[in-house]
Amino acid sequence: METRTPIFVANWKMNKLVRDIPEFIHRFGELMRGSASPHEVAIAPPFLYLPELARNLEGKSILRAAQNCGTTKFGAYTGEISPVMLREFGVEWVILGHSERRHIYKEDDALVAARLKAALEEGLKVILCVGETLQERKAGKAFQTVETQLSILKPNELPQALWERLIIAYEPVWAIGTGENASPEQAQEVQAFIRKWAAERFSPPTAQKLRILYGGSVKPENAKALMGQKDVDGFLIGTASLDPTVFAGVIQNGLSSHGLA
Ligand code: PGA
Repeated sequence: METRTPIFVANWKMNKLVRDIPEFIHRFGELMRGSASPHEVAIAPPFLYLPELARNLEGKSILRAAQNCGTTKFGAYTGEISPVMLREFGVEWVILGHSERRHIYKEDDALVAARLKAALEEGLKVILCVGETLQERKAGKAFQTVETQLSILKPNELPQALWERLIIAYEPVWAIGTGENASPEQAQEVQAFIRKWAAERFSPPTAQKLRILYGGSVKPENAKALMGQKDVDGFLIGTASLDPTVFAGVIQNGLSSHGLA
């Protein structure tokens, strides 16, 4: 029996103005009122907006997330924000290894691994993004790419307690921001592979508890079918998270696939 709580994570990327936040949160709260089914929502705004987001989330159950974090507590790392600093601002989750970080800013697996280690050490929970490019998919290398990206998770370095602070987001690069989502079957195929990988590498109970998200052009129209897949436990949402009505639509339609809306 599946007991994984669905989670929906808004990744605002480099969008919005700080003054948009109060209206967004107010509207989103109104739209989600009465949705009693168990689920979690997190919002990852640009770093600078975290205090304003926190003010607006007082008394609400929405979680705060960041879009990346540094590899150490303090030091000469111009432009980086450390996990300690994020914790100071009440951030609970951090997105790591997003494809835009990997491809535009050339973050490799070693750097993502260093960020992951620092984040977990400081008590953050991590959403680790993995996913293949179109070229890799066409070459039949989707699983191989995902497996390589996952291999920074090492059983000897990641005890059971830390696994519980980890989510994997499968985000095929060709589906991000393109309007072309993976089909529910394509998402399920890779996400089942990720769960199997986790079962073999760690343990079947760990894998059973692991939440695996899908990300890439999720919208209200495709949320139900994607969430209907056995190994899709929620979404990482870019474009569709920028508008409170659309974001709420994604969540409600997603939950409805579990008969939960
Ligand atoms: P998208 O972005 O929903 O706009 O495709 C998803 C993501 O990058 O996390």
